[in-house]
Amino acid sequence: MSEPGNAPLQAQEGEGAPVLSCVGLAKRFGQRSAVDGVGFEVSPGEIYGLLGPNGAGKTTTIKMICGLLDADAGSVRICGRPLAELSVRSLVGYVPQDIALYPDLSARENLAFLGRLYGLRGRLLDERIAEALELTELSDRGKDRVDAYSGGMRRRLNIAAGLLHHPVLLVLDEPTVGVDPQSRHAILERVRSFGASGMAVVYTTHYMEEADRVCDRVGIIDHGRLIAEGTKRELVEALGEKDRIDLVATGDLRALAAASRAVPGVERAAEADGRVHVVAGDGRSVLPALVEAVESSGVTLNSVEVAEADLESVFLHLTGTALRE
Ligand SMILES: Nc1ncnc2c1ncn2[C@@H]1O[C@H](COP(=O)(O)OP(=O)(O)O)[C@@H](O)[C@H]1O
Ligand SMILES: [Mg+2]
Repeated sequence: MSEPGNAPLQAQEGEGAPVLSCVGLAKRFGQRSAVDGVGFEVSPGEIYGLLGPNGAGKTTTIKMICGLLDADAGSVRICGRPLAELSVRSLVGYVPQDIALYPDLSARENLAFLGRLYGLRGRLLDERIAEALELTELSDRGKDRVDAYSGGMRRRLNIAAGLLHHPVLLVLDEPTVGVDPQSRHAILERVRSFGASGMAVVYTTHYMEEADRVCDRVGIIDHGRLIAEGTKRELVEALGEKDRIDLVATGDLRALAAASRAVPGVERAAEADGRVHVVAGDGRSVLPALVEAVESSGVTLNSVEVAEADLESVFLHLTGTALRE
């Protein structure tokens, strides 16, 4: 390499070769299998979503991809080269789920400290800091201490830290948890633009809407296994002709979900976020019986919505549970 952390290494296997290729990743913690045979590829400019509920194995998977956790089995290649080559690790930018910043330093000081760890110095370091602040819309707040930052600004600075060394692969672990809707929007827009600039991105989330909005391709992970993969359209089409019915209600939604599952024609039903999400082959034909289920379970129905199946429906179909219960 010429300048440290500068020009990204090119893919060895020519144009179109995946930036990330991982195969058969596995990790146990004692008796518990956290990740069990996960593999996927990400191309240049592609945003790959790892979508799954809390505890599914997202963080463990990406820590293995970033070389922060040794895998029990499987392999990771970045631009065709094994992760074991030290120079390869500098191709990856990692944005951890837990914010890793010094609160009593300014944003600039934080970035300078981290940039030096990547081997950046002098004018190049200054340029990279300015660029990372600009990319995360923090240019005018660079001198402020991080403890004066809002949650959303900290999240953005956390992302800036992952960009300093111009990674070819950016790995973001639930980067919008705990931020306000406006900051969330800003982060999602930024991530889209990283993909558009040619960076490969891995984006983990338990928010179906984020996977839908940001990701070109989604891998659905549950209990440490990748149970489906594709574009949103592919995943939804693989469901077959299905309707999604949302029963928005207050009261014992578990009871309502159970009563809904007993309705002939209902394939899946689970409660999440103040509603019962129902998947059925023909939504309209099961509606009358669903309304009876509402009455028998004693909940107060606020609204019924029949909609097209989405990624949430796919997850429910595959696992029988909701993404967020
Ligand atoms: N260091 C650890 N020691 C023991 N168990 C762990 C550790 N890290 C993760 N786990 C367990 O592994 C599983 C997957 O966790 P994680 O990868 O953090 O999931 P996610 O990021 O999808 O929420 C969970 O059951 C979690 O409790
Ligand atoms: Mg996690």
